[in-house]
Amino acid sequence: MKTERILVTGGTGYIGSHTVVELQQAGYPVVIIDNLSNSDSAVLDGIERITGIRPDFVEADCTDIEALKALFAKYPDIKGIINFAASKAVGESMEKPILYYRNNLNTLMNLLELMAPNHVKGIVFSSSCTVYGEPDVNPVTEQSPIKKATSPYGNTKQISEEIITDVINAGAPFKSIILRYFNPVGAHPSAEIGELPNGVPQNLIPYLTQAAMGIRKELSVFGNDYNTPDGSCIRDYINVVDLAKAHVIAVERMLQDKSEDKIEIFNLGTGNGVSVLELINAFEHATGVKVPHKIVGRRAGDIEKVWANPEHANNVLGWKAESDIEDTMRSAWAWQCRLRERGIM
Ligand code: NAD
Ligand code: WQD
Repeated sequence: MKTERILVTGGTGYIGSHTVVELQQAGYPVVIIDNLSNSDSAVLDGIERITGIRPDFVEADCTDIEALKALFAKYPDIKGIINFAASKAVGESMEKPILYYRNNLNTLMNLLELMAPNHVKGIVFSSSCTVYGEPDVNPVTEQSPIKKATSPYGNTKQISEEIITDVINAGAPFKSIILRYFNPVGAHPSAEIGELPNGVPQNLIPYLTQAAMGIRKELSVFGNDYNTPDGSCIRDYINVVDLAKAHVIAVERMLQDKSEDKIEIFNLGTGNGVSVLELINAFEHATGVKVPHKIVGRRAGDIEKVWANPEHANNVLGWKAESDIEDTMRSAWAWQCRLRERGIM
């Protein structure tokens, strides 16, 4: 077991839980802080079933600086932070912008403020390809222009990147790695953990697997008249376990002081653009299960096409997305079946 502990905020959430598994399997002691606003403490059981280790867990809100101070006092061995805790529903952020700005920005600022006094060496931040908006050119590199955010949620990611940059440039004694995720999908191959959508899913894969299960009548494909080969939108779907592994590499890079720069930014994607209709085909081919679907009109605000150039992460982090899209679809389906077995959905 390593001696440097990692604080994982939002660690019972979708990407956080997969990352906790990878951290534990790499030998890191972990402490999770989560307010369970979008996750369930039963996730801790799933993590324990996979790794044999129950992560330490503090149920608290990261916007509560006193709770964070108490956590750092209890765990003086925290040397790295991975900050997943955030509100992430784009539509909700249009209706409740203050909730989004307050939650996402205060969480980040509290953590940044407490890092130096607690001798934390680095923070990994969950950013998003949403910062590129509708790109002029695909694939996007880290130098591609940042476009004006189209939602308060997206804006919190842009502002967070700026806050981190300002704090580091002001001479903070720690490093930061900003990871811009493309579209995280799938679940752990054990089907012990996965994405737990709250209510009617807004994102493609949970809706697709629920339609395949018969929980939803049919998947609506939002548009087939885009300027793409089959007319449906194109994204870069990245397997959540591949994504989780990049966090272990990133946090280790800061703990071991491997980088010259105090702040680094990486795209995390596969480099392959996949359309909605291609993804439905991949799911059906991989699982043998049909996805009832129909073409409907475009969804307001959708990006036509975006996919990553992941070479910077490939070359500098030595990380590469390895999973095949059909394996990823099988993992998403196995998780949906597990939810059904457990009577959750
Ligand atoms: P998630 O909602 O499953 O996980 C976030 C976790 O943070 C939840 O468990 C929630 O309860 C917790 N949380 C929220 N606010 C908190 C607070 N103030 N204090 C303590 N805990 C809090 O989301 P996810 O999909 O795992 O996303 C993780 C991060 O990655 C988020 O920052 C999100 O914006 C970012 N991201 C996600 C995607 C995606 O498509 N899933 C894409 C790009 C970036
Ligand atoms: C993917 C594709 C839809 C649902 C959102 C956020 C973004 C990022 C990831 C965090 C699109 C199509 C979807 C459905 C469909 N999150 N679709 N029918 O839009 O790429 O990004 O999540 O940072 O900020 O905006 O992801 O999963 O919603 O959609 O046809 O029922 O699936 O039109 O082309 P998106 P998504």
